[in-house]
Amino acid sequence: MRTQVGIVGAGPAGLLLSHLLHLRGIDSVVLESRARDQIESTIRAGVLEQGTMDLLTDAGVGARMKAEGALHHGFELAFEGKRRRIDLTGLTGHSITVYAQHEVIKDLVAARVADGGKLRFGVSQTSIHDIETDKPSIRYHHEGEAYELQCDFVIGCDGSQGVSRASIPPALRRDFERVYPFGWFGILCEGPPSSDELIYARHERGFALVSTRSPNVQRMYFQCDPKDSVENWSDDRIWAELHARVDSHDGQKIIDGKIFQKNIVGMRSFVSNTMQHGRLFLAGDAAHIVPPTGAKGMNLAVADVRVLTEALNAFYVENRTDLLDGYSATALKRIWRAEHFSYWMTSMMHRIDGASPFDQQLQVAELEYVTTSRAAATAMAENYVGVAGAQAQA
Ligand code: PHB
Repeated sequence: MRTQVGIVGAGPAGLLLSHLLHLRGIDSVVLESRARDQIESTIRAGVLEQGTMDLLTDAGVGARMKAEGALHHGFELAFEGKRRRIDLTGLTGHSITVYAQHEVIKDLVAARVADGGKLRFGVSQTSIHDIETDKPSIRYHHEGEAYELQCDFVIGCDGSQGVSRASIPPALRRDFERVYPFGWFGILCEGPPSSDELIYARHERGFALVSTRSPNVQRMYFQCDPKDSVENWSDDRIWAELHARVDSHDGQKIIDGKIFQKNIVGMRSFVSNTMQHGRLFLAGDAAHIVPPTGAKGMNLAVADVRVLTEALNAFYVENRTDLLDGYSATALKRIWRAEHFSYWMTSMMHRIDGASPFDQQLQVAELEYVTTSRAAATAMAENYVGVAGAQAQA
């Protein structure tokens, strides 16, 4: 089998890339190790920056997002018994949409299937070959048969544990990592929203986040030990913890509901500054991870794909390689801005065991500043909606 662009991984990056290339008449095949219903139901985060919303809309896959997603013009920071609003739209002219990542995936899979796109689910033993030549290939097994897919380019969109990044010789890679000593306990519950906007709460017991999924389904998180297990948390214990962390702020009360999903995620920052090796390019989580506090993960994947689409298009239409050669440098500007913002939000909002009283007062001083200085609030808002400095350029 032959295609122009072989894509490993059917997450937001791989599926969107395949769709955008199709719109430009460039052929691709997407190989995914999991089953379609698995990728369409895995619970992940769900904040889309304005630029992400605009790109999905322009690409013809934004209708359900517009109808079912919730458009937000601000969010709240809760700390020291207060709630203070960050007016995203007032400060930046931009907004965000809360729409779950697996819903974006469903929309992209539906579009690819409708357009006759080549998606292979449940592939195994995937390996990437000859990326240092102009005839790379991907070998894999599907339904008991072995295949080789010959391509002009291989794009690794298979997440942080996938085979793509591991196919770049370690001696040539520059990786940067920071692991945080806490995780997030996430729940989905039935019931109405507790608040019109997201609430990021700093409390001495630890961070909590009130988010939403729909008028009847809510998403909430609280900081936990990353090694803890969901079995240790009864529904009553979860609600007691969330109430303790969120309710004390300016009369805010969260609304309990039936919990139907619980999960724990660890928190990590990671960047592979080598996003290209020969004819292999990395996009999304295969190249970088952010802690979820900045709500950047899916947006960074989409931004990588936007840069890569233009670069591949320039290659096929004008026989230009300069945009491909510049891919890492271009994408990394936005990535490092988002890495810093996600780290900064995380450090300011979480309980850090062993932190001195002095360090705790610094967290509060920082929150006081971003909620009282228009300049500081604007900096936060620009980063949150995705138009800060280097983000805007890339
Ligand atoms: C979510 O709704 O899942 C969500 C929202 C904001 C974040 C992280 C996750 O910063």
